[in-house]
Amino acid sequence: MRIISPSLLSADFSHIAEDIKLVESAGAKRLHLDVMDGHFVPNLTFGPLIIKAIRECTSCHLETHLMIENPHQSIDHYIDAGSDTVIIHIEASANPEKDLSHIKKQNIYAGIALNPDTNENRLIPLLDYLDYILIMSVFPGRGGQSFISSTLDKMINIVQMKGDRKITIGVDGGVNLSTIAEVYKTGIDVTIVGSGLFKAENVSTRFQDLLNA
Ligand code: DX5
Ligand code: ZN
Repeated sequence: MRIISPSLLSADFSHIAEDIKLVESAGAKRLHLDVMDGHFVPNLTFGPLIIKAIRECTSCHLETHLMIENPHQSIDHYIDAGSDTVIIHIEASANPEKDLSHIKKQNIYAGIALNPDTNENRLIPLLDYLDYILIMSVFPGRGGQSFISSTLDKMINIVQMKGDRKITIGVDGGVNLSTIAEVYKTGIDVTIVGSGLFKAENVSTRFQDLLNA
């Protein structure tokens, strides 16, 4: 079954509660929250305060994608804000094992994100600490970019690497009506869709079309 996690980055933040209700009624059970710090990526988005407000208007599983330097300094704030999964970038963490164990100890799902040019073999020592792997299919930093097709092989490799472990594999960036089918064909579990969903004329119809594409 296809699972779509709408990325709120492309939603309308002046009416965020309504946009959340819209994707929830279309069938979304999880939401993707893009935190950018202006250092790890040039853009700046939102932090724990906004996540707490989002938590108050939805019961969806909240996956928080931290595109921030030194994630260990603020992981706890994102947990306290109500995230269900916290995802750090492997390129941004000085000690991913330690950060992931810290997240798991608080009964929160621990995830790692991997940039398009980061070798997937770096995941091997982390597999026992992971609940979620987020494969970036664009360079992180903004929504609406084109899908990088060379990441499809990485998806296949990571699905194989996971084996029987209970790890969810997500794909983030450039997933839309024209790319979603080939992404799911690799065996991954979750796609993150931002502009490909929220920029549609009818978000509800688009959600269904993405499930069936
Ligand atoms: C990119 C973010 C993505 C982004 C995806 O840095 O991590 O989650 O919102 O947006 P689309 O689906 O428009 O590529
Ligand atoms: Zn993201």
